Order: sequence, then structure tokens, then C-alpha cells
Amino acid sequence: STIQASLRQGRAQVNGRSFSSGSAPHRKVAVLGAAGGIGQPLSLLMKLNPLVSQLSLYDIAGTPGVAADVSHINTRSEVTGYVGEDQLGKALEGCDIVIIPAGVPRKPGMTRDDLFNINAGIVKGLCTAIAKYCPNALVNMISNPVNSTVPIASEVFKKAGTYDEKRLFGVTTLDVVRAKTFYAGKANVNVSEVNVPVVGGHAGITILPLFSQATPTANLSDEVLTALTKRTQDGGTEVVEAKAGKGSATLSMAYAGALFADACLKGLNGVPDVVECSFVQSSITELPFFASKVRLGKNGVEEVLGLGALSDYEKQGLEALLPELKSSIEKGIKFANQ
Ligand code: NAD
Ligand code: LMR
Repeated sequence: STIQASLRQGRAQVNGRSFSSGSAPHRKVAVLGAAGGIGQPLSLLMKLNPLVSQLSLYDIAGTPGVAADVSHINTRSEVTGYVGEDQLGKALEGCDIVIIPAGVPRKPGMTRDDLFNINAGIVKGLCTAIAKYCPNALVNMISNPVNSTVPIASEVFKKAGTYDEKRLFGVTTLDVVRAKTFYAGKANVNVSEVNVPVVGGHAGITILPLFSQATPTANLSDEVLTALTKRTQDGGTEVVEAKAGKGSATLSMAYAGALFADACLKGLNGVPDVVECSFVQSSITELPFFASKVRLGKNGVEEVLGLGALSDYEKQGLEALLPELKSSIEKGIKFANQ
């Protein structure tokens, strides 16, 4: 695609024009948790992105090796590894985008909310440092439970006086990636052409794929649509069970995280009509945060797009998810303020 073509040419596409790597805007991107299961392949994919000029890899352990390894790849960005809390400030200084896959993953039998006790504190600490060292960065939150870690980040930023709702994103791109893959399999259409919005949140029934809006269209039965919805909602658990104790999705997540960060970079660079689903501050439902299609621009969120027409099945799904999503959001807000 664009990234591969640009890589071959050693050029970056910005705003429809093509720049040699030297003249594309300077963009510093940090990955926090860069030595982890997601962090390593995500660091690789960000190293392949010609829109990045500086790649900052941070973890509490193991980053020097990952950074040395990735830095040998002959693409535009300069790579630096940072390890341990006293190097976090340097890792963050001047960042345009901070991607956060730091935290523990699920094991079979766990819900994402079971990760709250450990990951809430990790996210709180990292966001406190972001407020101090790069308050204007776009934050791409991957750490689970996303339905709570995004509200935690917002509260930390509010306390620090740096909160800008346009710059905080829960990464739900993997739900969209899955919905596209599963839909293409049933609809018998070219997977690379499929679009499916996924709204709500990022856990179980709060993940609501809107297959009634999927394109290319296909005439799928209610049974098939129900099965596709459930498979998308349980996609994370499918991987957790298949990995049988060795963690959760890392490779598909790295792909999804790289896709979302690329969309954020394009938005920052002024590319028009960049639209991705993300869990953001929102007024399209009664909840303060909600995932939906979002237009990305030079300041982050340019516009939170509405839900569009829903089928009766999707309307029921929306009603059913609101209480769980509400309580996960409130849990995050409460934690950040205690
Ligand atoms: P992992 O255990 O393989 O890696 C996590 C990394 O975070 C480790 O390298 C660890 O050292 C690091 N870390 C821990 N505390 C840190 C801190 N304070 N600062 C910086 N780094 C720190 O886990 P993983 O499989 O990479 O998953 C990471 C997180 O992403 C989990 O919470 C998981 O649930 C979540 N996840 C989210 C999605 C999504 O769609 N949003 C998808 C998959 C996984
Ligand atoms: C996913 O959707 O794969 C992630 O949220 C990880 C998980 O725990 O399922």
C-alpha cells in the first residue's frame, strides 16, 4: 500500500504530495512498553513508517536490545532506546505521538477488567509523565482495560491542567481489523476493500460492530450477522485461549496500532479525510467516552462522527452495552481521583 510504495521510493506521502524523506515534517513517536509482546512488532512497524523521523522506544527493561536491533533497519527514522523511569522524560520530550502498549495481558479465564489493578497504576504513572514532558502529544492508548484506562488518562491530564480531549484516543482498531476479516470471510468479498465501523468500547459486549453499514454490501442472514458480531466481540478471547497462557493478541495488535498511529500522523500532516474508529471523549451518547468514527486532523480529533443508521439488532446491542461501559468509565475516573 502507500507505506510499502513510499518505502520502495524512499519518499513520504503528505497531503497528496510526495516529499523526499528529508523534507517530510519532523515527527517524533514514542512507544511505551516497547520491549513487550505488542511493543516489539509495533516498534518494527513504526520503523517502517516513512512519516516518522524519530522513534523513541521506552520500557522498564529490555529496550536497549530492541532499539539496537530495530535501529539497523535502513529507513528514515532515528531510533533511541530508553530504559527505566529516570529515562522516561527524555523518551517523551518533543513527542508528537505517544503509543502506550505497557501493561500486563490476559490469561485464559480473565476479563480485561481483571487487568485493572495492575494496569491502572502503570497508565497513571505514564500519563503523569506525558503531562510533564510532552503535554501536546496525541496519546494512543492500547493498555487494557481501554474502557477504563482512557478515562484514567483524561483525569490525570485534567489534574495536570493539560487535558485536551482532541488528543486522547483509545485504540480500538483491532476490533475493526477483526470485523473486516470476519465479514470478508462470510460475505465472500475482497477483504482489502471491506469497511465496517465498530463502535462502543473495547471489551466483550461493549464492542459493537455495525455490519448493517459494512461495504461492499452482502445479503447475510440474521444468524450469520449474530455469529459475526459475537466473533468480533470475542476476538480477543479467541486469541487468549489459543495462546493458552502465553498472553493475548500481539501481532494483529501491532498491525492495528501501527495503522492507527499512521492515521494520526497523516492527520497531523494535514492529509484530508482521514477517518478511523477510536474510543474518544464523545457526546454522541449519554456516556462521556465512546468509540465511533472520528475524523483526524492537525490537532488530533477534528470531528466525532455520529453512529449513522442502526439495524434493530444493533440498536439492542447499543442499549445493552451502555451500563457496562458506563461502569468501566466510572471505575477509571474514580481510580484516578482517589
Ligand atoms: P507484554 O507483557 O508482552 O508487554 C508489556 C510490556 O509493558 C512489557 O515489556 C513490560 O516490561 C512493559 N511495562 C510494564 N510496566 C511498564 C511501565 N511502567 N512503563 C513502561 N513499560 C512497562 O504485554 P502485551 O501482550 O504487549 O500487552 C500489553 C497491553 O496491551 C495489555 O494490557 C493488553 O491487554 C493490551 N492489549 C490491548 C489491545 C487493544 O486492542 N487495545 C490488544 C491487545 C493487547
Ligand atoms: C484484544 O482484543 O485482543 C485485546 O484487548 C487483548 C485481550 O485481552 O483480548
